[in-house]
Amino acid sequence: MSDNQQRESFGSKLGLIAAAAGSAVGLGNIWRFPYELGSYGGAAFLIVYLAFIFVLGIPVMVTEFSIGRHGQANASGSFIKIAPKSPQWSVVGFMGILSSFMIMTFYSTIAGWTLEYMFNSHGLVAGIMSGEVNSGDYFTNFVAHPWHPVAWQLAFMAITAFVILNGVSKGIEASSKILMPLLFVLIIVICVRSLMLDGASAGLEFLFKPDFSKIDASVGLAALGQAFFSLSLGMGALITYGSYINKQENLVNTAFQVSVADTVVAVLAGVMIFPAVFAFGVEPGSGPSLVYITLPNIFAEMALGWLWCLVFFLLLTVAALTSMISLLEANVVYIAEKFKMNRTVATIVGSLAVLVIGVPVTLSQGSGAWAEFQIFGLGLFDLMDFLSAKILMPLGGLLAVVFVGWGPGKNAFELEISNEGTLKSSAIQFVRAMVKYVAPALIAVIFVAGLM
Ligand code: PHE
Repeated sequence: MSDNQQRESFGSKLGLIAAAAGSAVGLGNIWRFPYELGSYGGAAFLIVYLAFIFVLGIPVMVTEFSIGRHGQANASGSFIKIAPKSPQWSVVGFMGILSSFMIMTFYSTIAGWTLEYMFNSHGLVAGIMSGEVNSGDYFTNFVAHPWHPVAWQLAFMAITAFVILNGVSKGIEASSKILMPLLFVLIIVICVRSLMLDGASAGLEFLFKPDFSKIDASVGLAALGQAFFSLSLGMGALITYGSYINKQENLVNTAFQVSVADTVVAVLAGVMIFPAVFAFGVEPGSGPSLVYITLPNIFAEMALGWLWCLVFFLLLTVAALTSMISLLEANVVYIAEKFKMNRTVATIVGSLAVLVIGVPVTLSQGSGAWAEFQIFGLGLFDLMDFLSAKILMPLGGLLAVVFVGWGPGKNAFELEISNEGTLKSSAIQFVRAMVKYVAPALIAVIFVAGLM
């Protein structure tokens, strides 16, 4: 994409919200949020999480949108366009791109598992019901299979690449406008079913009745990390989407609406999962395997359980896809602009690059060739998660707010949050204050504590 070509943009407000909410709502909401909440004390975690979304998440999201909209380029190039005299800031955008690249290597693994569960829901649930299948063994055997998880990962990558090939409005925006409403319908259907279970109220109590004595530093840290991951912050994805936002849109309102949608889905995921977990007497803190090992057992107890299993994993697939689209887009646009390639070539290059690391990541989960491979004492999967979520993401987010709050991006930020001085509201003042003072301090805390 050359400079003199008109940059594509989202065609409507609805399309913008669907695409940005699509990025935010993902495996983070439906897979990660419930197990984090389950491990960190239930409703107490929820309260801290909500506070962080408001004081940290929304301001950082506005920061990223404003950098992209002002820079009109990829996540790294936007920094150069805003501050041509201090090109070193573009490293911040580059870190985000690197981080989204790493996330894709394991996000595509988990999304692949989800496809397997969706397509195999009947065999799985019927097997559990007849006693021939144990859901824990099923999961372990599946992830250790030499090529099944890789095949699903390739399929998922291909679907994502197909959307990206079609461009911003015909690919990303058009698909989000179908997938996001579908996601809301699916999640509400499953919530209703879950609430009808006998004993659902214990789950709701766990989710909504806080025990304040459970709040401590580790809960705070986990909630902060979750808020960041869930809102897609610090990864170049929302800077890239920001570059497609029309000048007349109000960035503070947009960030608010996207964050509310993301939070509503996370809470609904809790409403969907905890009544079922409590109704069937499962341990809520059972960790990352919660949805893959625990839920199939629960489905097996329900009438038409295979169908519920299918609907649930379809929901998870849809959520993962719209997030993966934003991650790949951040990389593809960077490759296209930096190396002057067209979208098609850049999409192929980007997708293959993800698979070069992503396939070994998938295989590292089994007992195969890559299981023993370690760097710094971490397996590949954990290494990718650690580097992206614990190092690059918080550091990138921190430097982005410093860039617009104190650095050479100050003017650009001022122009973008107020639409060149035409918008004034207390919400804008709030965001400005958070970006300058509160967000840098809070993110620094996650970063330092995360390393210790
Ligand atoms: N927010 C997504 C989720 O919750 C993950 C993601 C992170 C997507 C960063 C894009 C960028 O699953």
